[in-house]
Amino acid sequence: MRQKILFATENEGKMKEIRQILGDMDVEIQSLREAGIHGDIEENGETFEENAAIKAREIARLTDAIVLADDSGLEVDYLGKEPGVHSARYMGYDTSYRIKNQSILDRLQGVPEEQRTARFVCAIAAALPDGGLLYSRGTIEGIIGYEERGEGGFGYDPIFFLPEYGCSTAELTMEKKNELSHRGKALRQMKKMLEEYMA
Ligand code: IMP
Repeated sequence: MRQKILFATENEGKMKEIRQILGDMDVEIQSLREAGIHGDIEENGETFEENAAIKAREIARLTDAIVLADDSGLEVDYLGKEPGVHSARYMGYDTSYRIKNQSILDRLQGVPEEQRTARFVCAIAAALPDGGLLYSRGTIEGIIGYEERGEGGFGYDPIFFLPEYGCSTAELTMEKKNELSHRGKALRQMKKMLEEYMA
């Protein structure tokens, strides 16, 4: 039987990215919805890795598949790496990103460029059927811009500026963002580890 990989997300955008990157592996890739699993797991870990592992382990109890889960966020150095693991919860889950982004811009008002450094981080955990765990991490470095720019992407993308590309991550094509992004890097690294595990 073909090995099954379940990705513990209900986010269709993430699933698309995952299928693009893991698509050529000889495995069946399923989302939680496709596996008929509904999981609302509290992310109460203190690191991205801890949160990813909590999700992967919890779902792995319900299936024989390899379970992948990710956790990601924005670290702003000037704000002591906040919002970090609280990125989705920052100012409340239901607060719009227009307001969250404006709050970060306000908190960095007057801060010079060299102190505006920030990064997106993505950790992925894989819970294996033998009880083991694999981890991967990807980051993309940038600076917090001075205003929102761009209509693409999601979340904090409009304020995350890439000086070497002269644009925000909300102004990149989806292909380019996947190539450069924290999640793309973490996924490609995890792919290699899974290929070795399954060999
Ligand atoms: P989660 O990993 O789905 O829990 O999401 C973490 C949060 O980090 C998201 O809700 C966004 O606020 C933020 N985030 C993670 N990756 C990105 C990205 O690529 N662009 C913009 N915001 C992101």
